[in-house]
Amino acid sequence: MEHNANVSKIERCSGLSDKEFYNTYVKKSLPVVVTDKAEWTSLEKFTPEFFKTNYNHLTRIIDGKTYTLSEIIDLCKTSTPENKAPYPNVFDLHKDFPEYLDDIPEMFYGKSNRLQSPLLPKTIANQTNQQQLFFGGKGCSFPTLHVDYHWVHTQLTQIIGDKDFILFAPDQTPYLYPDKTNHNLSPVDIINPDYNKFPLFKNAESLRITLKPGEVLFIPSGWWHTTYIHNFNLTYAIDHVNSFNWNKFMDENYLVAHKHYPKLAWVIKVYKEIMGKVFNLKEN
Ligand SMILES: [Fe+2]
Repeated sequence: MEHNANVSKIERCSGLSDKEFYNTYVKKSLPVVVTDKAEWTSLEKFTPEFFKTNYNHLTRIIDGKTYTLSEIIDLCKTSTPENKAPYPNVFDLHKDFPEYLDDIPEMFYGKSNRLQSPLLPKTIANQTNQQQLFFGGKGCSFPTLHVDYHWVHTQLTQIIGDKDFILFAPDQTPYLYPDKTNHNLSPVDIINPDYNKFPLFKNAESLRITLKPGEVLFIPSGWWHTTYIHNFNLTYAIDHVNSFNWNKFMDENYLVAHKHYPKLAWVIKVYKEIMGKVFNLKEN
């Protein structure tokens, strides 16, 4: 797929304590795959048949067309690289499957997830995609190489199928031609890169992993990433804010607030300072 020789593998590990995970990966901003933290993915609730039987009232509009969840699952099952299922097919856990929340254990960052804290106003927490399920099929890939909005960390658990994740560290940004307006999006098609248009992309060094069912990938804040899918696929994603990315997360919130409510945006700055200290105290 990607015509780029500068590719390394992402490390797989198991048996990590929360503290080791935080100190080795979160603090150093290193992606990793954890192989022993997602037993819940084998629950019957996460099979395609269970979704089809119990949730066919859910629909999604993709490229202007409405699909039921059953139709999405069937299209993903028969998807081929030549005749791809629509993608991405994203469902929000809180809205669409609230009864699933208890089945998914709290993620292990060694620090609390501030996005889930009652101390964080919903208007701020809802700026991110907190907990989602992605359905996909063979040949589907995420449309854009991107950094997750608002500098959140992301943790992705593979439930069904194999999915390639291709990551670029923040220091590779000069080779990725970030969009002038949306700095978190890159126009480079990394599967078929146009080197005439994006010659510096030849220098970009990537990390890659094929995530297998029951494995969890940690993508640190600020890392570029995209995906490619090999077969029928279901992935769970949770965004995360902790002490490491709090300031960047709140600075992005300030910019959004300043755009819409320039006279009130200062409140976000004050909140960032005061609540940053409160969260730090609580977490220590
Ligand atoms: Fe993402």
